[in-house]
Amino acid sequence: MAAASYSPASLLCPSTSRVQVIVPSFAKLNLDLRVLHKRPDGYHELRTIFQTISLKDTLAIEFELKKRTQIELSCSIQIDDNLVVRSAKTLLDHLKVTASVRFVLDKKIPIGAGLGGGSSNAAAVLLALPALARKPVPPPELVRLAESLGSDVPFFLYGGTALALGRGSELYPLPDQPRRPVLVVSTGIHVSTAEAYKALGRNVTNALTSPAGSPILREFQTLAWDLDGSSLNRLPLRNDFEEAVFAIHKELPALARKLRRLGAKPALMTGSGSALFGLFQTPAEMRTAASKFPSGNAFPARFVSRREYWAAWRRSLGQPA
Ligand code: C5P
Repeated sequence: MAAASYSPASLLCPSTSRVQVIVPSFAKLNLDLRVLHKRPDGYHELRTIFQTISLKDTLAIEFELKKRTQIELSCSIQIDDNLVVRSAKTLLDHLKVTASVRFVLDKKIPIGAGLGGGSSNAAAVLLALPALARKPVPPPELVRLAESLGSDVPFFLYGGTALALGRGSELYPLPDQPRRPVLVVSTGIHVSTAEAYKALGRNVTNALTSPAGSPILREFQTLAWDLDGSSLNRLPLRNDFEEAVFAIHKELPALARKLRRLGAKPALMTGSGSALFGLFQTPAEMRTAASKFPSGNAFPARFVSRREYWAAWRRSLGQPA
């Protein structure tokens, strides 16, 4: 498939005055996450590897061009300051389009868990509305709007496996990974991202990356190169938030050990937590492990490649995959 077909600007819906679509909103994992230092702008400089997985929310959208904008959202759970509405307003203002937009959001991705659910929902709106309004937005502009909604939002404009630098919004594609079975374990502990960064106690520096010769950067760089050929379970994958977040929520390291005992390799926290994930060799091993956790805490899934991500998007907008 040509690289251009992964561009958000390539999505367009058939021209009708009132359109209804149901789009997917996938979760992400951070397969590795290193926090280098605090920057003068208050954000932290990081290096991470994002991966989309099959755990997903579903967003139904009814869209009609109108004289005045009216945005309605009904959601399966109560979420304050839902990013869906903010994302829709941002996008319609940018397009200078007025429309009636009704969203029905079915949440399956645990919230406040480091799985990117809110960011993914925001990006789903940014991908869908230009297609529904038949007004494509050039990718650099769309990425800028995404970044204004949150550091993780731009990743979901692309999906698959990606390397992220800076705030986490400067993205480069990494090779598609095989469909690895993964078990996500989320206990409902809510971790505030801002608090988790604070707990790291990183110093402010002006440096573009980190003090010269950083062993963190050398190790991260090596594993990004190895990602193409090596099996993930042989790589020294790490999440810099684990130490700080595990010290506050003492049940999390025990859950990570349980995942390892059940055969997960590696078992890590995603983002700033509190969800953990374990990679398994086979779907059967993963399902056996899932059965050892309370059913509301275990979320069986698998990796979703960029190719699959885009096929799902095209299907949902009535285009050939
Ligand atoms: O960008 P987003 O709104 O998702 O970030 C939430 C909070 O997480 C920020 O206000 C900031 O405190 C922290 N953050 C950070 N460095 C990053 C990303 C987020 O310090 N790279």
